[in-house]
Amino acid sequence: MRFSVVAGNGFDQKADALVFPMTEDFQHDRLDKILGGALGSMVRRKTFVGKRGQIASAIVPKGERDLRSGVVVLVGVGKADELDPEAVRKACASGARRARSEGAKSIVVALNDIVRGGEVSARQAGQSAAEGVSLGLYRMDKYKKKDPDRKADINEAVFGGGRASLAALRKGVEIGTIMSEGTSYARELINTPSNEKRPPDLAAMAQRMARKEGLRCTVLDEKQIQKLKMDALLAVARGSGAPPRLVVLEYRPRGSKANPIAFVGKGITFDTGGISIKPSGGMENMTTDMSGAAAVLGAMLSVARLKPRVPVVGVAVMAENMVDGNATRPGDIVRAMSGTTVEIHNTDAEGRLVLADALHYTKTKYKPQCMIDLATLTGACMVALGDKVTGMYGTDDELISRVRNLGEETGDRVWHMPLFPEYGEAMKGKLADLCNISGVRWGGANTAAAFLQHFAEGTPWVHLDIAGPSHTSSSQPYRPPGGTGVGVRILAELAMGWKKLPKQKGKAFGTK
Ligand code: BES
Ligand code: MN
Ligand code: ZN
Repeated sequence: MRFSVVAGNGFDQKADALVFPMTEDFQHDRLDKILGGALGSMVRRKTFVGKRGQIASAIVPKGERDLRSGVVVLVGVGKADELDPEAVRKACASGARRARSEGAKSIVVALNDIVRGGEVSARQAGQSAAEGVSLGLYRMDKYKKKDPDRKADINEAVFGGGRASLAALRKGVEIGTIMSEGTSYARELINTPSNEKRPPDLAAMAQRMARKEGLRCTVLDEKQIQKLKMDALLAVARGSGAPPRLVVLEYRPRGSKANPIAFVGKGITFDTGGISIKPSGGMENMTTDMSGAAAVLGAMLSVARLKPRVPVVGVAVMAENMVDGNATRPGDIVRAMSGTTVEIHNTDAEGRLVLADALHYTKTKYKPQCMIDLATLTGACMVALGDKVTGMYGTDDELISRVRNLGEETGDRVWHMPLFPEYGEAMKGKLADLCNISGVRWGGANTAAAFLQHFAEGTPWVHLDIAGPSHTSSSQPYRPPGGTGVGVRILAELAMGWKKLPKQKGKAFGTK
């Protein structure tokens, strides 16, 4: 899809459809006249007044000279003084999707009413509009035969910003485009079925992307993983016919000698649960159990194009959790790369095992300024926060607060959860140092995070449990059903705005 920006509101641009995000305060006289009174009539009948989530379309009368699109799609964004980027993102996504279903192949998005009040800057408007359009229109239908009713893709979007600064709007659209490209790439990986993305396949995909984007890429195969004594990772992969992989992508700005920031992602390409096998109902969703790794790879794609000033390493740890005669048994004890021994009482708590080795490896090999891991780690996190919110844990107040704010800004919502020492206590083993599950049923997301904390010790760290928002079965404005790519934009934004973390005094809130 080609994106561009123009001065003015874009009404004079030739396109199949005009998408118009509209506030409740909009003075609609001129647009109403253009639409032959259609808008005024909707407002009077209260069928469309610009409230958030409202949508309406109107055919532009033939011979109309002030607007060169055939259809106008009106999308509500609510009150002008309550405007935020998320409202713009959602409105532009819904508007673009409606335009596509009306048969449009090109659209103009008029942002003049969005930037008018100054609540959202031209740059924010451009970025969130580009994200909304691009992420809203995403679809994967390559596995389906050609549907004669399928509407063509929209291949061109022009953004008009009224009197706003064209340079700021253009910068925003550029960044939003790159954010969406990383997110869509993550979605593409998540939506690939597990028979086509076993760890070596997924590693090869990451390698191909890295080559294209100019990122340094290292793929550790099972021999190298054995040599590094990553026995926790190997224990998870043992029951599968496909070997594990650990992929490292590195971005370094020219001349920079700074320590990198690190992203680490859980890449279980399918999670049967192992010998502690999952019930079969819904197990097909476990094809998305590599969403953490996908988010890291997607973020690295965006980072490669955004070129932030800080070096970034992305680590994706890949294994398939299967069942065969060599599979790990409940009760087995393994020694993780860090030297810590772990009793495996439940082979379905595999994410924390692969992350234990990935975190230790990242920490010791790259000495990062901070580590952020993303993982579809626990069903318990969904019990706590629902299926649209990420659970956040962390050991550094400043890093936690940055990620929390980025969650609000990007619409990938996160909520801070505790790492009280009691959770760590609950993860002590009887025969080994740690056990991979706690003895009690409650607080499963917290005890899982406490297990990981052990392996991130000494480095400012945030853990994001994305089990809920990693995929969706219902259609949300800019999240069609399937993998969502949640977290990609948080990570890419964090890298873009990176400042050295201040040294923390004492322990982080919620960890003592
Ligand atoms: N991948 C699952 C977590 C998950 C569940 C993600 C539902 C998305 C949707 C993870 O590996 C897992 O199985 N966790 C167990 C942990 C338990 C055995 C302590 C869980 O949450 O039940
Ligand atoms: Mn599992
Ligand atoms: Zn899992």
